[in-house]
Parts: sequence; structure tokens; C-alpha cells
Amino acid sequence: MSEQQALPEEAKDFWEQRYVQSVERARGKAGKFLQEFVSELAPKRALELGCSTGDDSLWLAEKGWQVTAVDISDHAVQTAQRLAQEAGLASKINFSAVDLAQSFPEGEFEFACALYFQSPYEFPRAQILQTAASRIVSGGHLLLVSHASGPPWGKQLHQHHVFPTLETEINDLGLNKTDWEYLDLSEKKRLAKGPEGQEAELKDNLIFARRR
Ligand SMILES: C[S@@+](CC[C@H](N)C(=O)[O-])C[C@H]1O[C@@H](n2cnc3c(N)ncnc32)[C@H](O)[C@@H]1O
Repeated sequence: MSEQQALPEEAKDFWEQRYVQSVERARGKAGKFLQEFVSELAPKRALELGCSTGDDSLWLAEKGWQVTAVDISDHAVQTAQRLAQEAGLASKINFSAVDLAQSFPEGEFEFACALYFQSPYEFPRAQILQTAASRIVSGGHLLLVSHASGPPWGKQLHQHHVFPTLETEINDLGLNKTDWEYLDLSEKKRLAKGPEGQEAELKDNLIFARRR
């Protein structure tokens, strides 16, 4: 049996340390599923939960969306703000460092996304996602993508993670079928690269829904 990796007591400290110590820029490009599902939508107001260093919000802003983006890490948000400035997109994105377990941004949105919005700490994820869904206007879309498995190179940390099934995610989200239609519900596979260039096939859950 392997030892559990000790985590800081507070989630905020964990994410802060992670971004300060090892994540200069999370991906450097928008997520594959965001590009695939959102490219054709008419850009209006978008919300991103757990925006990290802003790759997905920057892409949305480039596509013409007015973006509200939040993350618990001050450092990640500062990096995201700097990247938005450098890209000339600062006026299109309102980034803020917020613990979504404590407060939620104001407003209504035509699109909201939570991409791998997961944490090794217990937090009211389902409730946060339900709140996001409740802020989407009629005709608007919701995109949720989550890790359904962890990479072999992250075994110690992933002992603390919950990897939900698609069914659990759908139940937790609890979208009312009278108000919502699912446009895609699937388990996706993708190839990921580890810190030493090693590759592994990972599983993701994807939910793409439209408010009627
Ligand atoms: C696994 S990362 C995913 C980041 C990014 N969305 C992506 O696709 O790469 C989860 C993100 O959620 C943020 N996060 C975790 N708990 C949070 C909370 N309670 N409130 C706001 N953000 C949180 C973390 O700081 C981190 O950036």
C-alpha cells in the first residue's frame, strides 16, 4: 500500500502553491472540447469556473465572448490577467480570485463552462455547478468536462481525488429535463502527456446541455 501524499490544510494553499511552484501557464491553448463544442455558438456572455491561468477564457474572448472567469488561486488569476493584457483582451475578460464554495459571480450568461473543475479537497462542486446552470438564460449552453480517471504519473495526488462516473455527474447536476436538453453526454478518451513526456490514455466525462 503506498503512502498518502500530505496536502496543505486549506484548498486555497494547495492551489496557490501549485501555481506558484510549478504551473507557469496551464496549457497554452484552449481545451479541445471547448473548441469543438463552442466554436459555432454566437458569442455573448460567458462564465468560466476554475479558469486557472486563463487559456480557455482567452480563447472565448478571442471568439468575441465577454467573459467572467474565476479561480481560487490569486497567482493563477494574476497570470491570466497578465496574459489577457498581453493579448489585448483585458477589456473582454473579468477575472477574479474567488473561492466558489464561498461566493459566486453576479449575472446571467449565454454560456458557462467548468473544465476539469475538480480538487483533491472536498468542496460543494455539485451545488456550484447547479448555481452555474441556474444562471444560464434560455437558449444558453453549459459545458462540463471532468477527469474520469487519473494519469499514472499522478498516483499519489490522485488518492485524494474523486473521479466521478458520467451517471454520477448527471445525477449531481440534476438538470430538469423540462428546461434542459442534453446535446451530448459522453465518456471521451484522450491522450495526455506527463511531466517527463510520458503518454497515457485518459478518460473524461462530457456534458453539453442547452437550456430550452
Ligand atoms: C484541475 S484544475 C483545472 C483548471 C482548468 N479549468 C483546466 O481545464 O486546465 C481545477 C481548477 O479549479 C480551481 N479551484 C479549485 N477549487 C476551487 C474553488 N473552491 N473555487 C474556485 N476555483 C477552484 C483550481 O485553482 C484550479 O485552477
